[in-house]
Amino acid sequence: MQIKSIIRLQEVDSTNNYLKQHALTLDSGVLVVANKQTKGRGRHGNMWQSDLGNLYFSFIIKPAKRQDIFAILMRTSVATLKLLQQAQIQAKIKYPNDIVVEKQKIAGILIESAGFDSLDYLIVGLGINVNQIQFPKLENKATSMRRISQEQYDLQNLLQVWIDQFNELKHPQNVYDIYLSQSVIIGETIRHRNRDWIVQSITPDGRIHLVCQNEHCIVHDESLSWPNYYAS
Ligand code: BTN
Repeated sequence: MQIKSIIRLQEVDSTNNYLKQHALTLDSGVLVVANKQTKGRGRHGNMWQSDLGNLYFSFIIKPAKRQDIFAILMRTSVATLKLLQQAQIQAKIKYPNDIVVEKQKIAGILIESAGFDSLDYLIVGLGINVNQIQFPKLENKATSMRRISQEQYDLQNLLQVWIDQFNELKHPQNVYDIYLSQSVIIGETIRHRNRDWIVQSITPDGRIHLVCQNEHCIVHDESLSWPNYYAS
């Protein structure tokens, strides 16, 4: 799957909503980017503050399968790490959907789908904090490329670099290896069923492999209570 074309909007409620509304007529691989979102959405019903200066975009894949979701999430995360690396910013992945720099969030991914196992479409939305300097309600929790490097970025260039990185990531095993090696949760202790477990790994389909005194278990993200650091 490749990103094939770009729709550019000055303003929209949410780039994910836009693709949902046009899902029937758009081809797979269309990406929509907006300078500003009036109702940007994050995971768990949170809002995603979307003023001018950052990257807000979504792309559509259709049809798709439910089991593809984690692979596309990993590919999106790794393309974002590579974009940041090109700007000399060393970021990490905070499972499942966040990109962080020293515990501060720099990018988030929202994946939405329609259908059951065989999906009509998958919409992948990505917000990258680029030129924003102040994060009034998220002080210490969020950062941006500009805050880290003191540079002002051209959003159009940056998006093209992201698309090139994404399109070049053609080998799922390679993407999985990078996703694992750059995940901050590996080795962390978390609480599960009233015990402390160590995160051993993340499975290729997106579950977490935990170990506690030689006992192993594989669980879904939703069943875990993460320490404060991991609250989105
Ligand atoms: C999260 O970290 O909670 C996910 C944030 C995803 C934000 C992006 S911005 C572009 C796209 N449109 C939206 O409304 N949300 C995503």
